[in-house]
Amino acid sequence: MKIAVLPGDGIGPEIVAQAVKVLEVLSKEGRNIDLEYGEIGGAGYDAAGDPYPAATSKLANEADAVLLGAVGGYRYDTLPRPMRPEQGLLRIRKDLGLFANLRPASVYPELVSASTLRPDVVAGLDILILRELTGDIYFGQPRGLRRTADGEREGYDTMLYSESEIARIAHVGFRAAMKRDRRLCSVDKANVLETSVLWRDVVTEIGKEYPEVELSHMYVDNAAMQLVRNPRQFDVMLTGNMFGDILSDEASMLTGSIGMLPSASLDANSKGLYEPIHGSAPDIAGQNLANTLATILSVAMMLRYSFDDEDGAQRIENAVRKTLADGYRTSDIFQEGTRKVGTKEMGDAVAARL
Ligand code: IPM
Ligand code: MG
Repeated sequence: MKIAVLPGDGIGPEIVAQAVKVLEVLSKEGRNIDLEYGEIGGAGYDAAGDPYPAATSKLANEADAVLLGAVGGYRYDTLPRPMRPEQGLLRIRKDLGLFANLRPASVYPELVSASTLRPDVVAGLDILILRELTGDIYFGQPRGLRRTADGEREGYDTMLYSESEIARIAHVGFRAAMKRDRRLCSVDKANVLETSVLWRDVVTEIGKEYPEVELSHMYVDNAAMQLVRNPRQFDVMLTGNMFGDILSDEASMLTGSIGMLPSASLDANSKGLYEPIHGSAPDIAGQNLANTLATILSVAMMLRYSFDDEDGAQRIENAVRKTLADGYRTSDIFQEGTRKVGTKEMGDAVAARL
């Protein structure tokens, strides 16, 4: 298992170090794991003047999978856009063709009361948000800033999806639904946007190939509302790039903390990049405060999707569950009666249970 490890910025290095402890346990059991480190985001800019250095691209292309921490930091906020850390993330997604972003949101029984929503609303929740990751308004051309004839500044972006881009993510969605509760809700804004009219048409056509899956369509504003009103109605939610960005942050809070949500970004051959969905949290970086569980759970997804090791994946997930059941909590999920620990102690606790 050749894994490119890209810790990135902010809390990235400390949360990734805990996930590496988990990989080390698996390595001692006899799995052949080869970790190679590279820079991305602000770390890439510091090391090579580029948020996605050529050396990192080479490393990522040669690896079987990529483990990423997070990118971004105050220091880089004033750089010109091409040099900003976020560009590193967008470029590696595009470079590796990672069009399918899986963001599962499920609630651990121990954390039911850590959610800001009532326990009876979130208990038992198990949603998979499937977000298209290499198209949409994130990448559409033209885009830019310009001046109008009378000198006013104007910004513009292009929301754009081709039929083939929609079809391939729809297939991933229906196949995922087949392995779950066989319900797929496609999210769009077809009452306003042309892109969404095509999205809805193509998803409906592809859906005919999966008669066992119950397909529904929902406008994104309603989906945002339904996620907090009655989130358990959803099984798989299929979204474009921007709607998925927004809805997955919203869904994370149903689970208690954004620090709990892992993700997998896959290409057509299940090569993947695995990262927590949260950001680099520069305000708490280096203080041993960050929740590492989303990153550790991302390693579980890596075993499942890139290395076809369901047993390893479930053992990591069980170790996380046991750690929570034993009362360990980082401060974002701490509640009276549990045991507050730091990032490192949480990593050790999960590794010990594994
Ligand atoms: C995410 C992040 C990124 C995105 C940013 C950092 C570019 O919010 O992975 O959800 O918008 O995709
Ligand atoms: Mg986001």
